[in-house]
Amino acid sequence: MISNYPDGKPAMPLPSLALLMCRPSHYTVAYEINPWMKVTRQVHQPVAARQWQALYDLLTRSLRVPVRLLRPVKGLPDLVFTANAGLLVGKAFIRTNFRHPERQGEEVIFERYFRRRGYRVVTLPRQFNFEGEGDALWVGDTLFLGFRFRTDATVHEHLSKILHRRILPLELVDKRFYHLDTCFCPLDATSVLWYPGAFDRYGWKAIETHVPDPVPVSTADALRFCCNALVIDRAVILHGGVSKPLRKELERRGFDLYELDLSEFLKAGGSAKCLVLRMTR
Ligand code: ARG
Repeated sequence: MISNYPDGKPAMPLPSLALLMCRPSHYTVAYEINPWMKVTRQVHQPVAARQWQALYDLLTRSLRVPVRLLRPVKGLPDLVFTANAGLLVGKAFIRTNFRHPERQGEEVIFERYFRRRGYRVVTLPRQFNFEGEGDALWVGDTLFLGFRFRTDATVHEHLSKILHRRILPLELVDKRFYHLDTCFCPLDATSVLWYPGAFDRYGWKAIETHVPDPVPVSTADALRFCCNALVIDRAVILHGGVSKPLRKELERRGFDLYELDLSEFLKAGGSAKCLVLRMTR
């Protein structure tokens, strides 16, 4: 149980936001662990660096969000996707257990980073896979947990013992949307963007029952990773090329859209949201 809170319940949402990012100095497509990755379709390093910098500048300069930086490590090309470090709840860091051996070397890097900064590190038994914020997203006080391709459904039990919050497991059914954050994006406490094609009937029902205002997106928008948007208050940051209807829908709801070119990161199956981990200041 997380002991920092007198009633055993962490306060959600997080009180003061900071983000963790990692420069793409060693970013490349070195292996294929999702359908987007093709080692034959290589990353253009300088372009990736510019695209990442544009996201960093937007966050730090325009939106004035504090961003902490994790030092890149040679041989760990996906470390740039810090959303998969784990899940932070107050001063507790629930560490990821990566599904694929290719990414398991990142676990100790993330763990060390948070331990050194005074976080309490919580690890789940090794046999259970859990990929952090990639598969665990809050809508108000409810945690939606994507499972199947990366995270195991059984993790649900462990997380509920730690968090004491309602957790709704959602099975992912389309390999292209292998993490929950590729097809489900909380916008605020009552609304989400979601791609219905990535879920089964139970998932539809769970989302429609528990989210007052779910906004479905088209296949074309989903394939451009629009659900992998990074939402900071009313700012929605995402890869460019959003369809007109979706742009209008978001603007009508009072969101400001920031479209960036993140094409180099799409090559590894990621976009704006995966490049960032939410933490408290
Ligand atoms: N290549 C990485 C992987 O397959 C991309 C991770 C994207 N992260 C995310 N939170 N969706 O693990």
